Amino acid sequence: LRDPLALRSLAVRVAGAAAGMLRDLACTGEYSRSVSGETIRADLEAESFIVDMLRDEGIRYPIVSEEAGLLPGEGDAVVLLDPLDGSKNYSNCIPWASVSIAFYSPQGAPIAGAVAPVFNGPPLSFAAGHGCFEGNTRLEPPGEGTRFLYVYIEHPDAAAKLAEVVAALRGGYKIRSLGSAALEIAYVAIGRGHAFIDLRSKLRNIDVAAALGIVRECGGRAATPSGPLDSLDTMRVQPIGSIAVTSAPETMKLLESILWGPAR
Ligand code: IPD
Ligand code: CA
Repeated sequence: LRDPLALRSLAVRVAGAAAGMLRDLACTGEYSRSVSGETIRADLEAESFIVDMLRDEGIRYPIVSEEAGLLPGEGDAVVLLDPLDGSKNYSNCIPWASVSIAFYSPQGAPIAGAVAPVFNGPPLSFAAGHGCFEGNTRLEPPGEGTRFLYVYIEHPDAAAKLAEVVAALRGGYKIRSLGSAALEIAYVAIGRGHAFIDLRSKLRNIDVAAALGIVRECGGRAATPSGPLDSLDTMRVQPIGSIAVTSAPETMKLLESILWGPAR
């Protein structure tokens, strides 16, 4: 079973079911309780729900997941899983969070996957070579997208870079930072945003795996300081560095040059 369309359907079903479970239990103190560090009970419950469901569906591939790390398996694919993206929102009863499930080749190429919003709308998904989808509707490449920039910055130097980007884009863009990076990247992929920019170097492969597959299949691009981001590490949870995503080739050129080009 490595057919991208079959794996897409499975990812949609499992991510959708986990999102439903999380929605039903949202804003209950019990699920929002901190377990250790930044982990809340909902992260762990969603992870075991998804792992059990994948195994029940006959998926034997290794699974790399945020809380559990590498769960051994076999076969010619790997599951990259973020059971709850936006835990801070979730634990504060802020309705913006998602579930991400992706199948990648062991060498790091996307095969299929889904990002399911916990609170709003159907899952967004992709199958390699077959396009990107909202629910079961295949989407066309979005063009420039709505003029939102989804931005994550912490350091003052990053704020200065962002100011340069805003100046170079010549206005007309609104800045958002909603708190579930996977969902914001997927929104850019389908045209509900113009670009996603994270300059904190905090995101990891499991955070972005499903969303980046959607970007690629919708005709968009992603880049890090080392260049185009076309594949991911698959055998462990691994930081990816800063990242920019857009469907507009001119904007990608501009972002790469301002954010990571030679000092000017
Ligand atoms: C978080 C979300 C958030 C981003 C954080 C991530 P998590 O994921 O993607 O948008 O700002 O850096 O950690 O931890 O809730 O899976
Ligand atoms: Ca998470």
